[in-house]
Amino acid sequence: MNEMNAKVCIVTGGNSGIGKETALGLARMGATVVLVVRDQERGEKAKAEIVSQSGNKSVNVMICDLSSMSSIRRFAGEFKLKYGRLDVLINNAGAVFNKREVTPEGFERTLALNYLGSFLLTHELLGLLKASVPSRVINLSSGLAKNGKIDLDDLQSERNYAGMKVYSKAKLMVMMFTYQLARRLEGTGVTVNVLMPGFVATNLGKNSGSLRSSIMFKMVRPMQISPKKGAETSVYLASSDEIKSTTGMCFAKKKETTTCPISYDEELQERLWDKTARMLGLASE
Ligand SMILES: NC(=O)c1ccc[n+]([C@@H]2O[C@H](COP(=O)([O-])OP(=O)(O)OC[C@H]3O[C@@H](n4cnc5c(N)ncnc54)[C@H](OP(=O)(O)O)[C@@H]3O)[C@@H](O)[C@H]2O)c1
Repeated sequence: MNEMNAKVCIVTGGNSGIGKETALGLARMGATVVLVVRDQERGEKAKAEIVSQSGNKSVNVMICDLSSMSSIRRFAGEFKLKYGRLDVLINNAGAVFNKREVTPEGFERTLALNYLGSFLLTHELLGLLKASVPSRVINLSSGLAKNGKIDLDDLQSERNYAGMKVYSKAKLMVMMFTYQLARRLEGTGVTVNVLMPGFVATNLGKNSGSLRSSIMFKMVRPMQISPKKGAETSVYLASSDEIKSTTGMCFAKKKETTTCPISYDEELQERLWDKTARMLGLASE
């Protein structure tokens, strides 16, 4: 592992599960870690545990609702002013919502949190990442992405909604966004990779709003790996010298892996990018 002392790292959803263990791993290496969380109390509790276990006091909490685009824009502005550099952005926060909900901004919530939020946060922080090269963007996808089906005419799942299906679709979009962004950033010194953490015992699914799925998540618990194990690939991608120039790849268990054929469809990636940029009111160049 290389020296992380001078590095500033963002971990979204750093108060729980894989994100918390990722933040702890990076704090142990001496990095400055910013936990981007939606709840101050949960964030401070995680921070206290990470500081005490790592002995690193450079762990901070910043508030952002990653399903709210205005919250993301506000947070990114505050972060730029406060830190002035960013070495590693880990788009980790995620959740599944079994019932279709629409955010006050008009976005279906599973899509907003798992895909649109990562897309927008990365976009908002790209200038800072470029000014801090070499820098890294790490996106969390899922093995379920292979089940994802993208209908460009129904990105908000108005016609057909099922929580896990939409989650799988959003995680496929995260992969496609990763591959496309990596191509766009080729040669800039900003690398972009995606990972599949495995089947991890976290809070994921507990807050989905369905008793059935929370029982199902309890039943599968014995098959799941620990959050510490689940965070290993995130920590590896954030810190390892071995992959410092690797970009546009998917990793699982700290190794490069291939993803479903549709994820590599460059024409679909472009069209998805353009649609997303339009939804978010961004210029798509
Ligand atoms: N666990 C698995 O088996 C598995 C498999 C594949 C991929 N993943 C991915 O791994 C990532 C981490 O999930 P996890 O398994 O560690 O689950 P987790 O324990 O539930 O952690 C999810 C994190 O995201 C945060 N979050 C949720 N909604 C948010 C919002 N609107 N704004 C800001 N933060 C929000 C949560 O905050 P709160 O504590 O406030 O809710 C929590 O910190 C997710 O992207 C997930 O899709 C997990």
